[in-house]
Amino acid sequence: MTEHLEISTGEKEEVYSTFLKQVVALVGDETDQTANLGNVSAALKQTFNHLWVGFYIIKEDELVLGPFQGPIACTRIQKGRGVCGKSWEDAITFVVDDVDAFPGHIACSSSSKSEIVVPLIRAGSVIGVLDIDSSELATFDDIDRKYLNLLCEWLVTVI
Ligand code: SME
Repeated sequence: MTEHLEISTGEKEEVYSTFLKQVVALVGDETDQTANLGNVSAALKQTFNHLWVGFYIIKEDELVLGPFQGPIACTRIQKGRGVCGKSWEDAITFVVDDVDAFPGHIACSSSSKSEIVVPLIRAGSVIGVLDIDSSELATFDDIDRKYLNLLCEWLVTVI
C-alpha cells in the first residue's frame, strides 16, 4: 500500500479519477473489511472534507455502524428507515439535496444538510451502504453518483 494520498486540485471529475487510482493502491492486496473500509473513509474525508463519511454494514437484518470519519453517529438503522435504510431496501443510490425534505431522514447530526447514500451490492444482494453527509445544501450531483457508484462496485470485491 501507499502512505501518501495525492489530491488533485482540478475539476471534480479529475479529483475523483485521481482518488480512485489512489484508493486502489491504498488498499493493495489487503482483504480485511475493517482495514479497507477504514482507509477508504479516511481517504474520502481527506480528499473532499465532507462533514461525515462512513459505512453501515448489514448484520442480522440491521445496518450497523462501521468504519467512519466525522462526528459520532447512530449505530443501527432498520431496513426502509432513513436514507440509508431506503438505499438498502431499494438497492439504489440516493442523492438528497435537502435532508429536511426527505421523509424519514435520520438526523445523526443537526449540521448535516445534504447527503448521498450508495448501496454496496455483492452478487445481487446489498451488504451495506456508503453514506456521505455535507454541512451544505445540494452538495452532491451526478458526478458524485457516478464515481461513488464505481468506488462501491470495486469496493465489494476487496472486502
Ligand atoms: N442520515 C442517515 C443516517 C446516518 S447518518 O447521517 C451518519 C439516514 O437518514 O439514513
